[in-house]
Amino acid sequence: IHRRDFVVTWSMVARVPLFADLNAHEIGTVMQCLRSRSCRPGEVIVRKGEEAHSMYLIASGDVEVVLPGEHVRLGPGDFFGEMAILRRRRRSATVKASTHCRLLVLDADDLHELLEANPSIAAHLHNVAQARGSRKSS
Ligand code: CMP
Repeated sequence: IHRRDFVVTWSMVARVPLFADLNAHEIGTVMQCLRSRSCRPGEVIVRKGEEAHSMYLIASGDVEVVLPGEHVRLGPGDFFGEMAILRRRRRSATVKASTHCRLLVLDADDLHELLEANPSIAAHLHNVAQARGSRKSS
């Protein structure tokens, strides 16, 4: 598959709410770990039940999390794919691009290092994963 990559800039990373408390040096470090991935509308980014190797931050565009009975839309500044990495499980849901998307991809090893160095990011990520995981569709 040929994907048109884009350059991950410092300001793109600095705009991600999850990284809001990092200083300039730390943002630079995170930036070096991030890869870019562009997706076309409808493209499946992660598939329920698959093994997980990375999590994703949305730089632009919208994605849809396919849950029983509902689709949850996530947009710029949001992230997904954290649950399987944190819990060392398989993907809990399929996530697909609703629009053309630019994603920042963080591999599991780099994420674990980032979380060790930044307890407040770790706490936030765990809280979000917990809330998402315990949410029942009505
Ligand atoms: P993961 O299980 O790795 O892969 C599917 C992702 O969908 C999951 O991580 C979360 O990032 C996301 N997800 C799962 N459930 C919800 C939910 N209720 N609301 C928003 N996002 C969710």
